[in-house]
Order: sequence, then structure tokens, then C-alpha cells
Amino acid sequence: MINTKTLIMGSLLGMMIATGCAVSQSYNEEELGLRKVDLYSEKSVVSEPTSYSTVSAGESKVIQRSFENAPPMIPHDVEGMMEISKESNACTGCHMPEVAEAVKATPIPKSHFFDMRTQKVLTEMSQARYNCTACHAPQSANEPLVKNEFKPEYRKANGAQRSNLLDTLNDGVK
Ligand code: HEC
Ligand code: HEC
Repeated sequence: MINTKTLIMGSLLGMMIATGCAVSQSYNEEELGLRKVDLYSEKSVVSEPTSYSTVSAGESKVIQRSFENAPPMIPHDVEGMMEISKESNACTGCHMPEVAEAVKATPIPKSHFFDMRTQKVLTEMSQARYNCTACHAPQSANEPLVKNEFKPEYRKANGAQRSNLLDTLNDGVK
């Protein structure tokens, strides 16, 4: 006859076997994550060097927009242009609509001449847009560690090359 004690022991053994099987594949800490080194030390972590475009403005190839109305990445060399100060901003020197065409640069769009708070069109570029590199960044040529499966859907045929945020700002809201 099976008594209660044997029954409990038996079911406990069963549970141990079952859970044991589920975790039979184990990983040590050096195999976890994407960096594959000791998680408790930064000493052996070597990040891939950045490799920004060295092609000068006017000769680079624009990068496709990541999604509709994404701020475009800077495709050209920005050496010497990143010191944006009150007195000098190299970016506006080429990208202001009145000069952009002459240097074949994409003109600063309408949305940058608009006050988002008061919803008013400005006669000058919004001060909130002055520091271009707060939103526009150069891209380093590195292989991504994880493949990006995201597929953008552009509602306009040229959505991968141009933006129109101000025209679509309230889409779905009003
Ligand atoms: C000497 C002129 C010049 C200067 C200065 C300049 N750019 Fe450009 N920029 C261009 C041109 C021309 C292009 C188009 C690509 C090309 O021909 O290299 C471009 C492309 C871009 C693009 C991509 C636009 C698109 O349609 O995808 C961005 C974003 C950009 N520049 C931002 C900046 C920022 C931010 C600065 C300042 C840090 C800057 N640029 C300084 C001339 C310039
Ligand atoms: C607060 C973030 C922000 C700042 C600051 C900013 N931009 Fe943009 N920019 C964007 C976004 C978002 C877009 C795309 C959507 C749109 O049309 O506004 C864009 C679009 C652009 C485009 C593409 C226009 C087109 O027709 O496709 C250019 C060129 C550009 N910006 C240049 C600049 C320059 C030059 C500066 C600095 C003087 C600047 N931006 C400052 C966010 C910013």
C-alpha cells in the first residue's frame, strides 16, 4: 500500500525532474548579452570605433529617412561645423532656404519656421531649431549587432527623401 509520505516524496521527485529538464540549457555570464565579456568589469569591453563620413558637404549621398518625417541624418563630414554658437552656425550657412538651392543642400523645412507653442508661422527660423545637432546627427558606419526588421511605410512617394511634417502635424488629431 502507498502511504502519504511516499506519495509526497514521489511528487516532489517528479517536480524536480520536470523543472530540471526545463533549465538544462544554461549560459555562463560571459555568454549573456551582446558584449560577451565579464558583466562585472568594464576593463575588457572594447567598443567598435566610430566611423563617420569624411565626404565633404556637396559630395555626399543623402541617407534614406528611417520613417516618415524622421529628422534626416547628416550624410556629410561635419568636421569644424559642430561648434554651434550664438555667433556662428555653419549649418544655416548652407541650409537656409535662400542659399540651399545654390549649394544643392536640402533646405530647412517649413516646420522649422513655425512656433509649435503658439501655432504661428514665423518670419525667422525658430530659436528652438537653432541647435541643429540636437536632432540631426551624423551616422557612423558600423554593423548593427541586432538586425533591424523595421520596415517604414511612407504615405508619400518621396517620403524616404523629403519631409512634410507641418502639413501632416495634426493628422489623426483633428
Ligand atoms: C558647405 C555647405 C554645408 C554645410 C556647412 C552643412 N551642410 Fe548639410 N548638406 C549640404 C549638402 C550640399 C547636402 C546634400 C548632400 C551632399 O551633397 O553632400 C547636405 C545634407 C544634409 C542633410 C541631409 C538632408 C537630407 O535631405 O537627407 C542634413 C540633415 C544636413 N545636411 C545637416 C547639416 C547640419 C546639421 C549641418 C551643421 C552641423 C550642416 N548640414 C552643414 C551642405 C552643407
Ligand atoms: C527639435 C529637433 C530639430 C532641430 C533642432 C532641427 N531639426 Fe531639422 N528636422 C527635424 C525633424 C523632426 C525633421 C523632419 C520633419 C519635419 O519636416 O520637420 C527635420 C527636417 C530637416 C530637413 C529636411 C527637410 C526636407 O524637406 O526634407 C533639413 C534639411 C533640416 N531639418 C535641417 C536642419 C538644420 C540645418 C537645423 C539647424 C539650423 C535643424 N534642422 C534643426 C528636427 C529638428
